[in-house]
Amino acid sequence: MPKQRVAVLVSGRGSNLGALIEAAKEKNYPAEIALVISNRPDAGGLSLAQAAGIPAEVIDHSKYGNDREAFERALQALLEAHKIDLVCLAGFMRVLTPWLVGRWRERMLNIHPALLPAFKGLNTHARALAAGVKIHGASVHFVAPEMDSGPIIAQGAVAVQNNDTAETLAARVIKIEHKLYPLALKLVAEGRVRVEAGRCLIDGVPAPDTAELVPDPS
Ligand code: GAR
Repeated sequence: MPKQRVAVLVSGRGSNLGALIEAAKEKNYPAEIALVISNRPDAGGLSLAQAAGIPAEVIDHSKYGNDREAFERALQALLEAHKIDLVCLAGFMRVLTPWLVGRWRERMLNIHPALLPAFKGLNTHARALAAGVKIHGASVHFVAPEMDSGPIIAQGAVAVQNNDTAETLAARVIKIEHKLYPLALKLVAEGRVRVEAGRCLIDGVPAPDTAELVPDPS
């Protein structure tokens, strides 16, 4: 089966992009990172792409003012020109309209630094701490028109420690993100993910019987 051609959309440093690029170097990985697009000309992710020899394009949203449609038409044109099969949002901080999201239904993934549907939006780590949750983490989901929603493909968890700050928690969650996104993309690219009644069902990769207890009773 030919590798799925993936575009990664970034707005910032691009550490998740870096994890996807690394994973895709593996011979049997079912996807190749064929294009990187940033809405900000100064995004660190662009240099990561260039260093890896991946086409990197900027569509500067500020040049489009309030015309979201024109911005998204430019995005769609690039995705089509590069014959993209799947889109990964990786720290892409623009809300997309139903027009674009609809075109990429079940072919556009996003990573969010919380266990959805908890803590949608920004400042997830500070909000998780303030809420006193004992388990926090990250989610990869298919993109739906409402922000940070859509069928969840995979999640990874971390235990919250008494002395955590938003920064220490973020540092552990991002390590999970770097494992989670390559896994979720692999499952989708292999055609193992089916959406039924708003849930992702994963074929051929069973979930473990147990997750962790926090605090650990042992
Ligand atoms: C990541 O933590 C990602 O989960 C988050 O932005 C960060 C980007 O980091 N995304 C969101 O908050 C989307 N709602 P990166 O540029 O180093 O990959």
